[in-house]
Amino acid sequence: MKIGPEQLARFANDGFLIVENFVSASACDALREHAQYLVANFDPQGVVSIFSTKNQTSDDYLLGSGDKIRFFFEENAFNADGSLRQQKEHSINKIGHALHDLDPVFKAFSRTAALAELVACLDIREPLLIQSMYIFKQPRIGGEVTCHQDSTFLHTEPDSVIGLWFALEEATVKNGCLWAIPGGHKQGLKSRFVRNGSATHFEIYDSSPWPLEKLVPLEAAKGTLIVLHGRLPHLSYPNLSPKSRHAYTLHVIDAACDYASNNWLQRPAGNPALGFK
Ligand code: FE2
Repeated sequence: MKIGPEQLARFANDGFLIVENFVSASACDALREHAQYLVANFDPQGVVSIFSTKNQTSDDYLLGSGDKIRFFFEENAFNADGSLRQQKEHSINKIGHALHDLDPVFKAFSRTAALAELVACLDIREPLLIQSMYIFKQPRIGGEVTCHQDSTFLHTEPDSVIGLWFALEEATVKNGCLWAIPGGHKQGLKSRFVRNGSATHFEIYDSSPWPLEKLVPLEAAKGTLIVLHGRLPHLSYPNLSPKSRHAYTLHVIDAACDYASNNWLQRPAGNPALGFK
């Protein structure tokens, strides 16, 4: 799907672009069903303890997930004794981060001609699909994602990351839709999440608070694609409603830019990030 000059101008001005009806309802449903299938076949034994203790092992589980399909629990999923408060299917926060390469259903969803054409309209010469996440935003316990820029986590020089956020069901202010600061991408990068072996920390370049009063909700009907500039400040509040808010995200970088060797997500040389083909 091509993006016209008017939409490109809006993206340049706002730092985000909402494309309604990008994905069919049936394609959304098929991806949701497949994600549920993956969760049903995921054995949480062992991972439960990793996430309840939040020790170094949990970092390794995350840091090693760049070329894997791994399951991450909601922070509020556990009782004090480490047992799940509700069934596994309603306890997973997200699946990441190489669904688009390793799973045939996600691979097909991530590599449509329409998406390749849309990304080609953006200022990306050689797109590489670097990261994918299936986000559940579970009813009542779906955790908050605090205000951030995606370039903090996936840095290239020069900056090139673009987020592609697919609403697999309706996202509203009630069930934790995205919020963004229009035009906020025009300011510099405030921090970088850098990795040194198994250790990570934030490098802070600008410690001023986000102007959260400027946030606007990006409510999205099922099938909507939201394109996010890498430096756009965005967040989502907790989902305290009884409705889930499933979304799928892809992050694309430009292979013509240098991918930082101290980004948390590293693909092994023998299994590099690939383009749309
Ligand atoms: Fe983000």
